[in-house]
Parts: sequence; structure tokens; C-alpha cells
Amino acid sequence: FKVPDIDNEPMRSYGPGSPERKGLEEALAQMEEDMPFEVPCIVNGKPIKSGNVFQQKIPFDHARDLCYYHEANQKIITDAIDGALAAKEEWETLPWNDRAAIFLKAAELASGKYRYKLMAATILGQGKNAWQAEIDAAAELSDFFRFGVKFVEELYSQQPPKNSPGAWKNVFSRVEYRALEGFVLAVSPFNFTAIGGNLPGVPALVGNVVLWKPSPAATYSNYILYQLLEEAGVPPGVIQFVPGPPAEVVAQAISHPLFAGLHFTGSTAIFKKLWKDIAQNLDIYKGYPRIVGETGGKNFHVVHSSADVENAVFQTVRAAFEYQGQKCSALSRLYVSSSVWNAGGFKEKLLEQVARIKVGSPLKFDNFVGPVIHKASFDKILGYIEKAKAADGEILIGGTGDDSVGYFVQPTVILTKDPKSVTMVEEVFGPVLTVYVFEDSDYNSTLDLVDSTSQYALTGSIFASNRKVLVDSTNRLRNAAGNVYYNEKCTGAVVGQQPFGGARGSGTNDKAGSISIFYRFVSARSIKEGF
Ligand code: ALA
Repeated sequence: FKVPDIDNEPMRSYGPGSPERKGLEEALAQMEEDMPFEVPCIVNGKPIKSGNVFQQKIPFDHARDLCYYHEANQKIITDAIDGALAAKEEWETLPWNDRAAIFLKAAELASGKYRYKLMAATILGQGKNAWQAEIDAAAELSDFFRFGVKFVEELYSQQPPKNSPGAWKNVFSRVEYRALEGFVLAVSPFNFTAIGGNLPGVPALVGNVVLWKPSPAATYSNYILYQLLEEAGVPPGVIQFVPGPPAEVVAQAISHPLFAGLHFTGSTAIFKKLWKDIAQNLDIYKGYPRIVGETGGKNFHVVHSSADVENAVFQTVRAAFEYQGQKCSALSRLYVSSSVWNAGGFKEKLLEQVARIKVGSPLKFDNFVGPVIHKASFDKILGYIEKAKAADGEILIGGTGDDSVGYFVQPTVILTKDPKSVTMVEEVFGPVLTVYVFEDSDYNSTLDLVDSTSQYALTGSIFASNRKVLVDSTNRLRNAAGNVYYNEKCTGAVVGQQPFGGARGSGTNDKAGSISIFYRFVSARSIKEGF
């Protein structure tokens, strides 16, 4: 079949008095009334309660629990893997049209029936404001499923069957894109509910079965996602929902002979550890597992002297502070030319805009910055601010936090003269922006610093009105980012428009939201027939 031309899910406005705000508020009120929810493991479509229970707290009101979830034990994990393998044959041999229909339905459910519920769970459990939840749990999620079907359709038609009638005999050749032999482990993060859908979704779309370990800090929204997939028609066993214990689920999965692939989003340190552990187990596997990961970032904006200052400031504030700087793509190091910073008014405008940011509970829709995800994150971020202060960092605004009710960190801007200072090079994953001001004449050597001081290479933006500067900078920064933006913020890649991912310490750069990632979870087979 042909997937018709599709477009990205339109964004809704959530303005005061709008029907969408009313819908979302009702979903939030209902969820607050009904919580805490109980979340089981789901194996072969059946809820399993181990009795080994942990809480997912509300990050802006940590006295309250959104849900309590049952972590698996060894037997439940074994049953989940066995059950997935048992479900495999029927799933991978299901006609593609039927798998496609299931995921097209999942996209409809995400943009319709489940929209406000998933957004409410993302707001309450992960601390996003309404618009950030809309970008994520409504728009990007439906886009991943809807575009995913289109990408797989394209993949399956990459090499059309070829019939070569010959003098001696006819040769008919075709290529079959099989699922991997075994099961895929999906390990998803807290910071995007949509990634919770995409990590098991990508391998499942091409016929794989998946053991899915969601982030403990996103358990409830991810549990709703599981229910959505089930309602869309994903058969029991194809995606097994096992919310921990994280280390044990992963260790058991990668010790199995039929472990065939890892689809991971999370920290660089954990991804590297997993890769090493997988290498240790290589002799027990039936094949070479596919390893796909999207990990850390130390994303940059570079502001050239020719930049439009108003635009560069506006984009910088959004990239650094939307979702409290907890996107993998978030801006955390800003290189700005001294003429723009001083005479151009960048500094003044930046500080004025940051001072106007409202910080607080995302239940109040005009709060732009909400809580960071948990206590460990709060402590780590404040620790980085202290380290910056102890070095040469000058706090221009913010620098404090309050975790008495929720995990709130004030939007913080640090000025440094040292391009290798700790908050210029290490990933903070919070609302902290560090600024380095360079002399206009040092533009090229500053680009070299951008490149050489980071172990990551995820996203970065160049602000300049001079086309040659944009082109030359991008060439000079050839390996510094997988997603480059011109006069646009370094966050907010859109499925089907800007395939997302980075290299170096940022991941395997297999590009979520594009056809590329699907190649990693298929094993092609060529068939030649003569007659
Ligand atoms: N796709 C998300 C972004 O670019 C991670 O912000």
C-alpha cells in the first residue's frame, strides 16, 4: 500500500478559555483525584504484581505520589523474555498492512482519545508545562507512530523485486527485511513520553518483539502508553512492560542468548557500561546484537557579530530553560561575540528575559519553568553551580534552588572566562546556561574551542546574518553536532523534518524520526529464484 502524504500533528494552543485547556484541566483534575495509581508489570498482556513496590513522586510536590509500581523479579523477567519470544513468529509474519494499521491507530489514539490523559501524566509525573507536554506526549508521539509507518513502508520498498528474463533462464530476485533473530531491549528515559513510545515502537513496527524498561521517573505516563498500544492492537507479548528494577532487567536481558538489539536513550555513562557488558557476553549470543543509543549532550549556541540580537536572545532563553534544561538537546553553553554581548545589548536583554521567567508548579499554565525531575538531579545541578562559583564562574542571575515542596532550581546564567570550566564542558541537565564572551576577531578560534572542549556532539546553533559565516562555521564544526541550526534554537527537532541524534559521546547517531533508525532493527535477506 502507499502511505498518503502525511503532515506533522498540529500543535494546539491551550490559551485561557480554549476547549483544549478545558480538556487538559479536566484530565488533570481527574488524575489528581484518582491518584496514586497502581502500576503492575505487564507480561503477555496480563498485569503481574510482584509486591516489590516503588513510588513515582510528583516532582513539584514531592509529598504526593502519582503512582506506585511493581518492580519485576527474576521469574517475571524470564517470563517476559520467554513470552516475547513465543509471540514473535505470529507478529513478524503478520502482513505488514496489519502492523501498519495498528501503529496508524496508535497515532490516532495519541492525538485523540489519549491526548489529555498522556499530557496530564507527563505534567504531573515529569513536571512539564502544558506546551512542553503537548510538543512531547501529543505531537511528537503521534508523529513517531504515523511517520514510522511511512518510513517502514519506504524501507520495505527500497529494493523492489526484479525480474530478469534471460536467454537461458528467468531470474526473479527480491529482498526481505526480516525482524532480528531474538528480542530487542528498549530502555527509555524520563524526559520525553514520546521517546517512551518510540523506543519499543521502532523495533516492533518492523516485526520485532520487545522487552521495555521505562524510566522509573516516567512510569505512569509510560504505563498509559502501554495501554494505548494495547488498545491499538499490539498483541500480548509483543511489547512486555517491565518497569524495573533497572539494573536487573537490563542485566538479565543482555545475558540471554537471544538478545538481539538494544534501543536506548539515557546517560552516556550507562550506555557505555551496557555496551561493555554486552561485549563481555558476546560469546553467548546467537548473533551480533544491534546497539542503538542516544545519550548525553553539551549543546551550544554561537552568536556571531552579525547576528540578529533579538532573535538570538529569544531562542537562547527557550533552548536553555524550556523543560528546565532537561532535554537531551537543551542549550547549556553559549559563545557570544563581545560586540553583541556588550554594545549589542545581548547581556541586558538576556538577563531581563530570564528575570521574567515564572518558575513554579506546571499546574499553573503561565509558569514557564517547573521542577527538575528528582532529588538526585536537584542536588547534582546545585552541585554544578557551586563548582562553577568555586572556579571563576560569576552568577549573573539565579544560582539558587528550593526543594522544600518540589525540586525547583532558579534559571541560572553563569559567566566564565574559562572555556574549559566545569559547566562549559560537563553535562548539567538542568536550567543552567554558561556564557563565554569572545573577541569578534577570535571567531574562528572560538569555533575550534566549541569543537575541542566537548566529548559530545548532539545539537548546536549558529546565529549570523552573513551566509558565508553560517556555511564556514558549519564546515569548521563538521563533527561537533548531529543537529545543526541556523538562527534557530538547538532544541525541538521535529519528526520527519529534522532527524535527531548525535555522534561522539552523544550516541550512535541513528536518527530518531527518520527512516535510518529502522535499518538497525531489520536483518535483510536476499532471495534469488530461477525458472
Ligand atoms: N527531539 C527533541 C529535541 O530536539 C529531543 O528537542
